[in-house]
Amino acid sequence: MATTIIEPFRIKSVEPLRFTTKAQRAGILAQAFYNPFLIHADDVLIDLLTDSGTSAMSSRQWAAMMEGDESYAGSRSFYRFEAAVKKITGMQHIIPTHQGRASEKILFTITGGKGKSFLSNTLFDTTRANIEFSGAEGIDLLTETGKLPSVRAPFKGNIDLDLLEKTIIEKGPTQIAMCIITVTNNSGGGQPVSTENIRKASSICKKYGVAFFIDACRFAENCYFIKQREEGYAAKTMIEIVNELFSYADGCTMSAKKDAFANIGGFLALNDDVLTRECRNLLVITEGFPTYGGLAGRDLEAIAVGLEEIMDEHYLKYRIRSMEYIGEKLEAAGVPFVKPVGGHAVYLDAKAFLPHIPLHQYPGLALSNALYIEGGIRSVEIGSLMFGKYAVDGTLVPAQMELVRLAVPRRVYTQSHIDYVAEIIIDVFKKRQELKGYEIVYEAPLLRHFTAKLKPVG
Ligand code: F0G
Repeated sequence: MATTIIEPFRIKSVEPLRFTTKAQRAGILAQAFYNPFLIHADDVLIDLLTDSGTSAMSSRQWAAMMEGDESYAGSRSFYRFEAAVKKITGMQHIIPTHQGRASEKILFTITGGKGKSFLSNTLFDTTRANIEFSGAEGIDLLTETGKLPSVRAPFKGNIDLDLLEKTIIEKGPTQIAMCIITVTNNSGGGQPVSTENIRKASSICKKYGVAFFIDACRFAENCYFIKQREEGYAAKTMIEIVNELFSYADGCTMSAKKDAFANIGGFLALNDDVLTRECRNLLVITEGFPTYGGLAGRDLEAIAVGLEEIMDEHYLKYRIRSMEYIGEKLEAAGVPFVKPVGGHAVYLDAKAFLPHIPLHQYPGLALSNALYIEGGIRSVEIGSLMFGKYAVDGTLVPAQMELVRLAVPRRVYTQSHIDYVAEIIIDVFKKRQELKGYEIVYEAPLLRHFTAKLKPVG
């Protein structure tokens, strides 16, 4: 019997790749100040910078876009979008936004502010930045297991429940703006959170009157992991698992650029009437009228169809399996990475990969840049360049982990692209001793990794 899991689609339209030489790439990287975010995408062969907004849309999504109703108010496309989001989240009020961080900005402007704390398993960079921009603080309470790249466990995205309760008591419940759980945990290896963890975290929050939210970007991948790994869920349908997950929450923020196969879009889903009114008021002056919120009618259509397609178990099986496939290749070659492989990305463990590069010379960036020069692969550092802070004496306070994320766009690359990626990683691993660190020559005060300029050490 055939055991190969095939891509559950065929390809109707293709984009050619542009090939460069290694010498050209070394020059391109220098011109980009050694920051992969500053490279022209045309100079990238396989772009694994992000799975966000990079999905291949289906013919059904493209067809739906032609049906887009561009009415300013009360667009038919909005009602289609609203119904699709309600079906998944079960929430009362659906607010479209142009992407995830716009939902965050609106929600945190209202709920955040000086003196407030946001508790999470791990906040993603834009989420943390929006919290801090409001004057509040973000606190990550990941379980100890979640912080150990080489330890295999089924739900390494779980929040530490004891720490959650302790922190609520210490800070005082009225000072906690909300607990927001990221599924899957993007900054911590794309690891899932179990239903049990969500249910218990939610009930701790209820006990103290603290709002409980979900950062739902990759909800479908998270729920497929639940189906595979959590006792009692194997026989449940995706919609049952997804509905249960959201049933514990007071609301969610979402970037439709991930688990909705859209190139742009997002939403806020809420149950509270008063909070919804306040969010809509802010929406009108920042994003747009409540029935389009920063999106065109056609975008709302693409999201509505994408939310249906993402729940297809054939797709999710292929998606999760193709990620495991890279993991198996790297494991066989002894390459250190976060285990098990995440839902949308492989996270190389740069600390273990390049132990000779000190943390203040950004081993993650060194590895990411080496992958670009060696094979034209673009990845992203999720380590001290992204999350590092400075102590009062100016020394670097490093991030919890030094990771390099290779995020796989949905339905875009085939198995041979992935084979090539694994080969390049293994080639770089073989010559890891030759790699050198970097120092920063320019940085912005917030989200510095996007625009930082660097130079090689020495
Ligand atoms: N939350 C999580 C967990 C995310 O991964 C992202 C985006 C956002 C919020 C913000 O959404 O981009 O639509 O504004 N992550 C992208 C990434 C950028 O590459 O992981 P957005």
